[in-house]
Amino acid sequence: MRTYRIAVIPGDGIGNEVLPEGQKVLEASAGGRFRLDWQQFDWSCERFAKTGAMMPKDGLDQIRDFDAIYLGAVGFPGVPDHVSLWGLLIPIRRNFHQYINLRPVKLLKGVDSPLKSPGDIDFYVVRENNEGEYSNIGGRLYEGSEAELCMQQSIFSRRGCDRVMKYAFELAKTRKKHVTSATKSNGISHTMPYWDERFAAMTKQYPDVKADVYHIDILTAHFVRNPHWFDVVVGSNLFGDILSDLGPAVVGSIGIAPGANINPEKEYPSMFEPVHGSAPDIAGKGIANPIGQIWSGAMMLRHLGEEEAAQTIERAIETVLADGKSLTRDLGGKANTKELGDALASIVRETT
Ligand code: NAI
Ligand code: MG
Repeated sequence: MRTYRIAVIPGDGIGNEVLPEGQKVLEASAGGRFRLDWQQFDWSCERFAKTGAMMPKDGLDQIRDFDAIYLGAVGFPGVPDHVSLWGLLIPIRRNFHQYINLRPVKLLKGVDSPLKSPGDIDFYVVRENNEGEYSNIGGRLYEGSEAELCMQQSIFSRRGCDRVMKYAFELAKTRKKHVTSATKSNGISHTMPYWDERFAAMTKQYPDVKADVYHIDILTAHFVRNPHWFDVVVGSNLFGDILSDLGPAVVGSIGIAPGANINPEKEYPSMFEPVHGSAPDIAGKGIANPIGQIWSGAMMLRHLGEEEAAQTIERAIETVLADGKSLTRDLGGKANTKELGDALASIVRETT
């Protein structure tokens, strides 16, 4: 039987509560056709408080040979967010060349969109995940004086632009054949015109895919006013980050939104995690919505080649949302984390 070795990093706060529900539902979806071999790592802000590091020095080596990484959430009050992010998530994303951050944005029946008439929303945000505005090249000069100044460089490489754009076009080919690029080449006069240039070059290789370009400011407005326009939206690290939070926000609860950090060549493990963070305000209460974690698990199974199991889980999510009886408070229900996880696991078991 095929066995997948999965590195499990629950992380902080509600990560510890939703991750076991994800494991439970994924186990149910295996149905004797494949095996999941989980190994847990306690890398977190709690570990930082005890040892001064989010993960051990050889942390990346410890998980390099796994088939995938299943992550909860990272970050907690007491440890500055840039410390926890750069101490764990970013090293994994960069060293394992997970240059695609993929987030589906789909309005499901049973979930209220904050929009008055949302229409049919079903698109993907493809965010560049390795370079762009999130570089640590920069620094301060004349610290503490009147002349104090600070600089940070953006990095846009040809390889970096081309590979994320290619991924977006390939994805669009399997869908509605439409790619939208986020830019800001009016204000940012070097990197963004370069991004546009690489996008124009890529469109030529995909004559059957419709391509359009919007500046990020008006694009955020269209996400709210015309979300039904989109199929695949590609953006730099910063713009993609913003769009991939705004997208899930217009289709309802942050608690259900999934995400993936993908190394498409499969040279390294890819990492699957919900969009939400550790939610310190509700952590420890057992009321967090586990759907984002579970849906991220479905994306992981798809990446591993278990398409059928992935679809079974996604259908179960649609069923449980439409039925409305086992939902958590963020979706207006009364169930707790475990009850919603159990409901999903039993639907998956029945339909596998
Ligand atoms: P957050 O996503 O943790 O929480 C935002 C709001 O949404 C809170 O009111 C929270 O209760 C609610 N919420 C989030 N997930 C939910 C769920 N599954 N069910 C029900 N309600 C849910 O974002 P916030 O507060 O900005 O960040 C908290 C910590 O998490 C910070 O340390 C931040 O750095 C970290 N974070 C980590 C991320 C990651 O691991 N990729 C992503 C976002 C934030
Ligand atoms: Mg974000």
